[in-house]
Amino acid sequence: MITSDLSFVKDQLERGEVVGIPTETVYGLAANIYDEQAIAKIFTTKGRPNTNPLIVHVKSMDQARTLVSHFPAKASILAERFWPGPLTLILPKSDLISAAITAQQSTVAIRMPNHKTTLALLETLDFPLAAPSANPYNRISPTRAAHVEAYFPQIPILEGGNCEAGVESTILSFDEDEVVLLRHGAISIEDIEAEAGRILDRTSSESVHLAPGRSKKHYSPLCELIISYEPLFMLSAVQEKKVGILWFSEVKIDSPKVAINHILSPSGSFKEAAAHMYDALHQLEKSGVELIIVERLPNYNLGRTINDRFERAAAK
Ligand code: TXA
Ligand code: MG
Repeated sequence: MITSDLSFVKDQLERGEVVGIPTETVYGLAANIYDEQAIAKIFTTKGRPNTNPLIVHVKSMDQARTLVSHFPAKASILAERFWPGPLTLILPKSDLISAAITAQQSTVAIRMPNHKTTLALLETLDFPLAAPSANPYNRISPTRAAHVEAYFPQIPILEGGNCEAGVESTILSFDEDEVVLLRHGAISIEDIEAEAGRILDRTSSESVHLAPGRSKKHYSPLCELIISYEPLFMLSAVQEKKVGILWFSEVKIDSPKVAINHILSPSGSFKEAAAHMYDALHQLEKSGVELIIVERLPNYNLGRTINDRFERAAAK
């Protein structure tokens, strides 16, 4: 059920229920961080292994400070610059954070979302909200309330329109004075480095693949998906399949073999492409195509984030 009734949603959360909430990145499946049964319900609803920790959403820097034992200097600078916004910081946790949220780790993931409705909701609550993305484990992330409803018809969802950034937050951790990138996201490496200097990219290191939640396969449609700089070449090998092609800025081939051509951003904007990418996948999946061919974007700025998501969606 999709609702705009903030006090109803507040009441549900206070009773220990799980609700869908909008953020600027993707919708989340939220619950009270201090209610262990509610946290357990997030994992069962999503079908997520409890070895995969959750992000805690806060309303203010002050609230964030109560949840960590130490705020490294560079983390403060980045929070000041990018919060509220799509940046998640992995920080040493305080005693207020339970092991269920962090999957037994000593660190906690925190961010302040930049969405009017959810900030207003957080303002009325006495507790922060733990929330993973509101998709079943490994499926396409939701950027509209209707996407969440299709996955979880039984839970209330707070209406918040289409997610503006449309791709998950960038995740950083801190190693002494070093800033470490763990997940590409809605803020590019270039923008982080402009604030914090050079950062270490550990998004593709083996240890990160083994770490909770960054498994290779993720964000996937039910049909086959491949990503390539040369969709035409990929298409030449395809026979008797209903094919959809996801282009970056223009349709480069017009072939009777292609059932649907979908353009992410006619003006060639990475931002617009990111905002539309998950919705395009939902639409193509619904259309019943058997194969989605995605045109790989130039690999810099948000192009890198978008390529990362499609590579994981393509992983077997
Ligand atoms: O934009 C977002 O970040 C969205 C919205 C709803 O805020 N949330 C989101 O949550 O993407 P989720 O659970 O789908 O992805 C969070 C990632 C997971 O890969 C998880 O393993 C990682 O954050 N994570 C959480 N706590 C961590 C920790 N203490 N150390 C390392 N990674 C952590
Ligand atoms: Mg997710």
